[in-house]
Amino acid sequence: VEEDKDAAAKRTAEYITDRINAFRPTSERPFVLGLPTGSSPEGIYRYLVQHFKQGKISFRNVVTFNMDEYVGIPREHPESYHSFMYKHFFSHVDIEPANINILNGNAPDLEAECIAYEEKIKRAGGIELFLGGIGPDGHIAFNEPGSSLRSRTRVKTLAYDTVLANSRFFGNDLTQVPRMALTVGVGTVMDAREVVIIVTGAHKALALQKCIEGGVNHMWTLSSLQMHPHAMIVADEDATLEL
Ligand code: GLP
Repeated sequence: VEEDKDAAAKRTAEYITDRINAFRPTSERPFVLGLPTGSSPEGIYRYLVQHFKQGKISFRNVVTFNMDEYVGIPREHPESYHSFMYKHFFSHVDIEPANINILNGNAPDLEAECIAYEEKIKRAGGIELFLGGIGPDGHIAFNEPGSSLRSRTRVKTLAYDTVLANSRFFGNDLTQVPRMALTVGVGTVMDAREVVIIVTGAHKALALQKCIEGGVNHMWTLSSLQMHPHAMIVADEDATLEL
């Protein structure tokens, strides 16, 4: 538990930098990193870019897989997760473009896109560390309440609450918010050798309580982490109000 959102982001970024450096990735054995979007990880990316500029870390031998992407908005749309990732992270570090993997929400066959993504993760040797955030309803990636805890990468219709929460990125105009997304499954996240989740703000306090102190269940999908052998949650004090 850190004092505030910035301290939580700083701590998480330091942890990721240390993990990648301790792993000593090479082109034959890259570090495979799962990545999220959202306002929670923005600070983490800011600190990781800072670490890169200070020469503390290189992303040359890091392979990334993003958690999710909207369906039906162009890749170049300013609110696509593709745009988010380049704006906040990829454009500022030395990652090889070929090492960046983001689901294509405009693929002609969305199901085939999801199956291919799972296979690509497998071929890369599995995810070493999956970084994530959660929605106020406890969803991880876009695994909305009710998602199977064994789910894999797939097309998901967004919950109304999520559409509402995301409308802040679309000028508060609900009609502009995508209703569907491609997302890795809870099972995909659980397969990662390590999972690190950042949770900040009082509006996530109920979700954090349900996920940590409640039972493992498909209505609060982050609760699946209770079964993970190597998981960590970094929270700010506001997010722990219900614990
Ligand atoms: C979306 C993303 C999630 C993210 C969540 C919370 O639903 N698909 O991966 O965790 O938003 O976003 P924020 O950090 O902005 O609260």
